[in-house]
Amino acid sequence: MASILVTGSNGQLGNELQVLAKQTSHTWHFTDIAELDICNPAAISKFLSTHTCDFIINCAAYTAVDKAETDVDTANKINAEAPKHLAEACKLHNSLFIHISTDYVFDGTKHTPYIETDTTNPQSIYGTSKLQGEQNAISIHANTCIIRTSWLYSSFGNNFVKTMIRLGKERDQLNVIFDQIGTPTYARDLATAIIHIVNISSQNTQAFIPGIYHYSNEGVCSWYDFAKEIHDLQNIACTVLPIETKDYPTPAKRPHYSVLNKTKIKSTFNISISHWKDSLKECVQQL
Ligand SMILES: NC(=O)c1ccc[n+]([C@@H]2O[C@H](COP(=O)([O-])OP(=O)(O)OC[C@H]3O[C@@H](n4cnc5c(N)ncnc54)[C@H](OP(=O)(O)O)[C@@H]3O)[C@@H](O)[C@H]2O)c1
Repeated sequence: MASILVTGSNGQLGNELQVLAKQTSHTWHFTDIAELDICNPAAISKFLSTHTCDFIINCAAYTAVDKAETDVDTANKINAEAPKHLAEACKLHNSLFIHISTDYVFDGTKHTPYIETDTTNPQSIYGTSKLQGEQNAISIHANTCIIRTSWLYSSFGNNFVKTMIRLGKERDQLNVIFDQIGTPTYARDLATAIIHIVNISSQNTQAFIPGIYHYSNEGVCSWYDFAKEIHDLQNIACTVLPIETKDYPTPAKRPHYSVLNKTKIKSTFNISISHWKDSLKECVQQL
């Protein structure tokens, strides 16, 4: 049985961990900014002086990708500097650190799924801040697992799935980008994988193999395909039209291709991953 601190637990992934935690016998400390601001090293230190934590799982992040372009300082504080504070605390208290990152650390110029050692080249402030956070965490604390994920959605919070359902019901026609290719990730599946890593590592700390890992659901699609599938599952009759990125300008540049290769996480931790369509169906049933 382990004691686990989760930061940013009011977000999509944090909420999914809260759901699954009920099925475990671990001691969980779920916190968000009101209970523990990860930008405040003194608060982290105070928390860990009163709570013993074998693991820290950092789900907290600045995830407003477009807003980050003009809110650079806040994005950097939360995504780049705070992982440093958490890694320092983990090192001091001998905790295993699981930190979540993003496919947006890549520039999207590849045509085959990205592996963990591929060259990073973020195109946005968000991606740059997340990459800096990864590097800060790894350089400070050897016992860190970074899990990069992509296109996260859940029945909790705001995300593409909920937006497509709402807009599909409001409108007869919708334009969705078809030249950004990636893989959606159901946050419940990622939470399951994280808990699996916690379970095996709490029984045997040697099972916690530090490093960078990629996790998304299986398969590949465009945002257009994703939207079509969401509408099909919900029997929404809206016409979805494919458009190019150049016809939908956004403040932040996003990679055209950011499919993640999951071979490493699957083989290291003996994890199996569902196809994105199966997981989407499961999530939509929860709505
Ligand atoms: N969402 C995606 O599509 C996506 C894709 C790839 C990777 N990721 C990564 O996956 C992880 C989880 O993402 P998510 O979608 O679950 O994020 P989310 O829903 O935005 O949740 C993040 C949580 O962190 C909280 N938070 C912000 N600043 C904080 C601070 N200083 N101290 C403590 N908590 C703070 C947020 O509170 P407020 O809401 O009040 O700010 C929110 O509750 C993140 O590392 C993210 O970068 C996400």
